[in-house]
Amino acid sequence: MDLTIEGNLYHNGSFEHGCLAVDRGKIVAIKKSLKTDPHLNVGTNLILPAGTDLHVHFRDPGFTQKEDFSTGSMAAAFGGISCVFDMPNTQPPTISTQTLKEKAQLASHKSYVDFGLYAAISDENIGRIADLRSLCAGFKIFLGSSTHALRLSTQNLRVALLETNRTKKLTLFHAEDEHCLRKHADEEHTLIDHLRCRSAECEETALHAILESSQGLSSPIHICHLSSCEGFEVLRNRPSNISVGVTPHHLFFDVHSINAKQAFYKVNPPIRSSFDRDTLWYGVQNNLIDIFESDHAPHAEEEKNVDFHHAPSGLPGVETLYPLLLASVKKGQITLDTLIALLCERPAQLLNLPKGKLEVGRDADFIVVDMKKTEAITAEHLHSKCGWTPFEGFPGIFPSQVFIRGEKVIDDHQVLVKPGFGNPVEV
Ligand code: DOR
Ligand code: ZN
Repeated sequence: MDLTIEGNLYHNGSFEHGCLAVDRGKIVAIKKSLKTDPHLNVGTNLILPAGTDLHVHFRDPGFTQKEDFSTGSMAAAFGGISCVFDMPNTQPPTISTQTLKEKAQLASHKSYVDFGLYAAISDENIGRIADLRSLCAGFKIFLGSSTHALRLSTQNLRVALLETNRTKKLTLFHAEDEHCLRKHADEEHTLIDHLRCRSAECEETALHAILESSQGLSSPIHICHLSSCEGFEVLRNRPSNISVGVTPHHLFFDVHSINAKQAFYKVNPPIRSSFDRDTLWYGVQNNLIDIFESDHAPHAEEEKNVDFHHAPSGLPGVETLYPLLLASVKKGQITLDTLIALLCERPAQLLNLPKGKLEVGRDADFIVVDMKKTEAITAEHLHSKCGWTPFEGFPGIFPSQVFIRGEKVIDDHQVLVKPGFGNPVEV
């Protein structure tokens, strides 16, 4: 036996004081009492499944002044995330077998947490989707222009979906329609301008196109970062193979709540009205949203600290994802069951991972949390290379210990493993 841990275990949807045994990285027993060596007793602290973030931009290769795979994955580990899925808009972008192999190689050397990689599907590589299958965890499609993103035209959408459907892998969408974005393009000096240029109509149009083009197909499709009330309505009665994610920045901000440093909150899709924000909370609270995702998109402080018009879009968030939402549980905004379902169980299910639940046979990925210890989030204590957070001063509950495959990775603000500890997920 590698270890047993004793505490308040979240098991089968409720808490029981008990012991969880780990052998060769897997959970092998969960019992009231187990006596093995070593035995770690965390008292009344909670033992929860670690989270999976299926949406991060770790910027490696190509933009390592913003982040790299080791700093990004270290931030994930400190935030209780044991597995991340990296987006393809790096330099070079992951659009070919070679670029996927190269990124897998660098991530294997640098990552502190388990990881998967997405391939981008654009107008250029649409004929080669089958070749990428064995090297990626899923496919990302940008229907509208965004930071360093390769686009797929709507006229190629059906063909692309027919191909990705054959692979049976997850296809993820950035759902903003390019034609609509161009129609509204204008000078942008404020967040309100940014919102006008990227109106909810653009999300709505893209979502209609995805629903139409995926008719009759059964492989899983994921809509990233839903942001608008209109989009929410389009997806309300979606087919069961379509899942939807929301980010903390769309849940915790509205465009009128941000006055200073507006460029730091520039993100695509944009932060919208309090009405949109409240609709997303309604969706989370009523089981109409499938997952939480950070869309961790770090840009260096100097890159953001410029005229609004020139600032790149994107916000960091992988380390604050779980802590912010644990604080929301404490405030009574969501239940712990909802949080665990949307941050641990369903992402694992979508990506076929043996993670996400404290259950015999799964990876021993869990966190130790003291719900009494709320702290004010501050960039000084975070680990992303970008050095800032949009959630400065927000309440967060951080894990004191994080275990991945039974190994203690984080203990009381220290990292205990080396870069390269993280394994690629099976694809
Ligand atoms: O705001 C965004 N930033 N939206 C995206 O789609 C990409 C991301 C980035 O990579 O910076
Ligand atoms: Zn993204």
